[in-house]
Amino acid sequence: MIRVLQFALSFVLPLAACVGVCTAASADSIDQGQALFNTNCLGCHGTPPNAMKIDLLAAANNPGLIRGQIKTNPAMSFLAPLTDTDLANIATYIAYPVTDDTSCILGWGEVNYPTLLSPRTESQQGAGYEFRYYPPANAYFGVNLAPPTSTRHLYYLDGHTGKLSDLGDITPFLNSALSAGCP
Ligand code: HEC
Repeated sequence: MIRVLQFALSFVLPLAACVGVCTAASADSIDQGQALFNTNCLGCHGTPPNAMKIDLLAAANNPGLIRGQIKTNPAMSFLAPLTDTDLANIATYIAYPVTDDTSCILGWGEVNYPTLLSPRTESQQGAGYEFRYYPPANAYFGVNLAPPTSTRHLYYLDGHTGKLSDLGDITPFLNSALSAGCP
């Protein structure tokens, strides 16, 4: 069964990713936004979404708000060299912080692989993963928690055999899930 899933995922997903219209919130812009955020913002603001020292969610998908802060907030004036594209990517990242990426992918998996990944459920965290558990198939589906996004992989664990399958980098999965509107 795992092999079937891997087979299906490895062939269907790269094709499905960004065929036709891609949303602006591609995994690339999220990765770039995350890197820019870590370099320029994290020191003062912490990591989205939970560890932020003040609520930055107003800046989600709102680069204009960040530009406004850079112009009016003396603490942030040194960030003036950041380009509009940089700010757009940062605003995208703030809108899709790490745990939201994972929810998007896991929810998308539930919709596409209902035989294994049902009933639909909530994410939980443990042992270095954010994952969901599906009792009927004794199946676990999740993403390792380590940032940055580029080092995060999607995993499937068969609870019967204990076999953990690494389905690869989350990027193509995230692109497909974002294109599908995080179902
Ligand atoms: C040197 C410290 C510092 C850095 C670096 C910094 N900020 Fe700020 N930021 C602040 C301070 C101080 C405030 C004002 C907090 C307040 O008013 O309570 C602020 C406020 C904000 C606000 C307004 C939040 C609100 O709800 O009003 C946003 C949005 C914001 N920062 C985004 C960013 C982003 C994005 C970056 C990186 C590109 C960044 N900041 C980098 C210190 C910093």
